[in-house]
Formats: sequence, C-alpha cells, structure tokens
Amino acid sequence: MGVQAIYPGTFDPPTNGHLDLVTRGARLFEHLTIAILSNPVKNPLFTVDERVEMLQEATHQLENVSVETFDGLMVDFARQKNASAVLRGIRAISDYEYEFQMALMNRRLAPEIETVFLQPAGRYSFVSSRMVKEVFSFGGDVSGLVPANVIKRLKRQVKRSGSSA
Ligand SMILES: Nc1ncnc2c1ncn2[C@@H]1O[C@H](COP(=O)(O)OP(=O)(O)OP(=O)(O)O)[C@@H](O)[C@H]1O
Ligand SMILES: [Mg+2]
Repeated sequence: MGVQAIYPGTFDPPTNGHLDLVTRGARLFEHLTIAILSNPVKNPLFTVDERVEMLQEATHQLENVSVETFDGLMVDFARQKNASAVLRGIRAISDYEYEFQMALMNRRLAPEIETVFLQPAGRYSFVSSRMVKEVFSFGGDVSGLVPANVIKRLKRQVKRSGSSA
C-alpha cells in the first residue's frame, strides 16, 4: 500500500507554487490531502470555505488529491488521516530554518510521521501568498503566479472590501 500524505498550509490564497507542489506530491503519494489550517494566527483575506473551493477547483483533475480543513495540532490531523508523511515546500534557504524547526518539533510529537520537502519549479521559487496579495492590492499583474480562478476571486474580493485588498 502506498503512502498517505497531508500538505498543510494556510493557502490564503493558493498559488501556482502550492499547485506545483501538489502535482509533485500526487505523483509520489497514494493519496494527498491538502489540509487548510482553519484558525491561523494571520488574519486571512479569504474565508476557509473560499480557500477550500479555490483548491478544489484547481485540483479537480488530480484524482488522488482531496481538500480538507483542520484546527489544532497538525500531527493530530495527520494521524486522523492515517498519514505517514507531511509534505512541505522549500522555496529558498530562507524557508529552511523555520521548516527545519517545525519538522523536528513534529517528529518529537509524532515520531512515526516523516516530513517530506519538495522544491517547486524554479519559476515559482519566489511566489508566496503574501507577495501575491501585496502585488495584487497595488494593481500589479499576478497572472501566471496563481490559478485563473484565484484571480477572479481576488478581483471580487477587492470589490467586496470596497478598496484594495
Ligand atoms: N511557491 C512555492 N513553492 C514551493 N512551496 C511553497 C510555495 N509557496 C508556499 N509553499 C509551501 O507551502 C506550504 C504552505 O505554505 P503557506 O500556506 O504558508 O504559503 P505561503 O505562500 O508561504 O503563504 P504566506 O505568504 O502567507 O506565508 C509551506 O511549506 C510553504 O513553504
Ligand atoms: Mg509562508
């Protein structure tokens, strides 16, 4: 039997960097559950339901990928899903220190679960949700960095808030 994995994050919003990782993970694992942290410390632009929808729309062609939300400890959610791997992305050395600390803390909490790091295609190595929101809010072009459905939602979001995001 293949490995069950989860890919945790805030995905506010999902980017093509996230999707690049999901595609790679879907090839590696029997099943990959994208796990949206529903109670993040950061104040999100999109609701959890909107993020679920955006990720479902963008991954509907991947049969072994599903989207769920979770709260609390990531390792508890991983255990609940019978996952023995946690997928995380490393864009640059700057991601490494935080990811390394988190992986070791999670290993202490759940020694049976391994964190697996993947690198995105080089063209996505600078893409983060925060940068996408920032650039978009000042009228910059983010096409090619996020899926088309996310661009639509970003535009709607700006209208909804009556000003820039
Ligand atoms: N462009 C990318 N390429 C590879 N991995 C990525 C990319 N963007 C995010 N990730 C990884 O996806 C996981 C979830 O990240 P998260 O939801 O925090 O996205 P983020 O873009 O870092 O968001 P924020 O800018 O709000 O921190 C992390 O392991 C992160 O390193
Ligand atoms: Mg981040």
